[in-house]
Amino acid sequence: MPFLEMLKKVPGTKDILPPEVLCWQEIERLSRITFKCFNYQEIRLPILEFADLFSRSLGEFAEVVQKQMFLIRNQDELYALRPEATASLARAYVENNLDKKTGLVKFYYLGPMFRLERPQKGRLRQFHHLGCEAIGSDSPYLDVEIITLASRLLEIFGLREFKIKINSLGCNQDKRLFAQKLQEKLEDRKEELCLDCQNRLSRNVLRILDCKKEDCRRIVKGLNLNEQQLCLSCADAFKQVRASLDLLGLHYELDPFLVRGLDYYTRTVFEITHPLLGAQDALGAGGRYDNLIQELGGPRKPAVGFALGMERVIMAQEKPLVLPKENLVYIITLGKAAQDKGLLLLNQLRQEGICADIDYEGKTLKAALRKGNDLGARFCIIMGEEELSKGVLVVRDMAVSQQKEVQQDKLLTYLKDCLK
Ligand code: HAM
Repeated sequence: MPFLEMLKKVPGTKDILPPEVLCWQEIERLSRITFKCFNYQEIRLPILEFADLFSRSLGEFAEVVQKQMFLIRNQDELYALRPEATASLARAYVENNLDKKTGLVKFYYLGPMFRLERPQKGRLRQFHHLGCEAIGSDSPYLDVEIITLASRLLEIFGLREFKIKINSLGCNQDKRLFAQKLQEKLEDRKEELCLDCQNRLSRNVLRILDCKKEDCRRIVKGLNLNEQQLCLSCADAFKQVRASLDLLGLHYELDPFLVRGLDYYTRTVFEITHPLLGAQDALGAGGRYDNLIQELGGPRKPAVGFALGMERVIMAQEKPLVLPKENLVYIITLGKAAQDKGLLLLNQLRQEGICADIDYEGKTLKAALRKGNDLGARFCIIMGEEELSKGVLVVRDMAVSQQKEVQQDKLLTYLKDCLK
């Protein structure tokens, strides 16, 4: 491999550079405020987990586990870079005995996830989730809180055109019966299914419902599946979820084909799509997983959560996010004598908590002002020898390209007033 090629980034990863990073910071800031408003606490989990955690939680035959895990072998141990955080959070919940401390717990997380996929628009190998999980209640009102929270976040990020699709998979027993019925109905048509779905027929039959291939879709449509057959208690819970969403005026579509690719889901599942995203149109998804905590060795604790894909949230921006104002003060010194004064002023501004920087490159006034402009400075302070001898400084307001002289000893008060 030529040397230069080795220095490139891994396909499906992304460098997030300024100014785009400002958009990420803003989304993170708004997320934290919103999660807090819904009483969710932040949790930070390892990126590295034992690979078994994911095969046991997401399902041995789930696509993410079969084809997309980044595995790291260390002697006899097999680690994985986490492909998602729900399993990690469930593990952390059990391992840290969080059930013993309080009843219902509500956590949120932000961070990178890894899936060894074929990179394409909106599909990366390292991407970021902002998500949350509420563990410890099977109340359908909690499903509604989770769906409302996902929708609220998207609205706060400025998205309007997204669509929420919901379905209920029922309990494990319901899922088993439904899978059996589906298998029976599809067995005769096996040859017409795509190769992947032929495999899914024996291992993961529900996934056939969301196969994107034209032929498989046609066959599935022809099965006339109405709503998933649910037991009484699951049907009641789903009815409550829909009634409460209606009560809140939250728009959604029922989608009986929505099954999700991860085995842990039971009862309510949902997906949020956006028309600007193209083929990979899911902005985020979530649902209930009432058995996962128990399956990982913990007590029976029903849970529900979701994750939004941050790259897709940014791609779907209908108009640019309004970013907080930059309040940088940029100091330009002209001539040797002004440099020490500039250093003292820089230090003083920073001590006062004012964001400040100085031209270290000895640029001409014109070039330094251009640099201040490129940096998004709110003010440039020009310190020439003549001004210093008069005890003043030139303060240039970059927004209106106007400048005025300010007494040196009044500068701090002046800036603080302007930056309020
Ligand atoms: P997921 O549907 O696998 O669910 O991922 C959630 C979102 O992450 C997707 O809707 C998509 O926006 C984004 N995403 C997934 N894969 C990629 C990729 N390769 N590149 C870019 N974005 C991607 C989960 O992971 C569940 N843990 C969600 C959940 C939380 N369910 C309950 N709690």
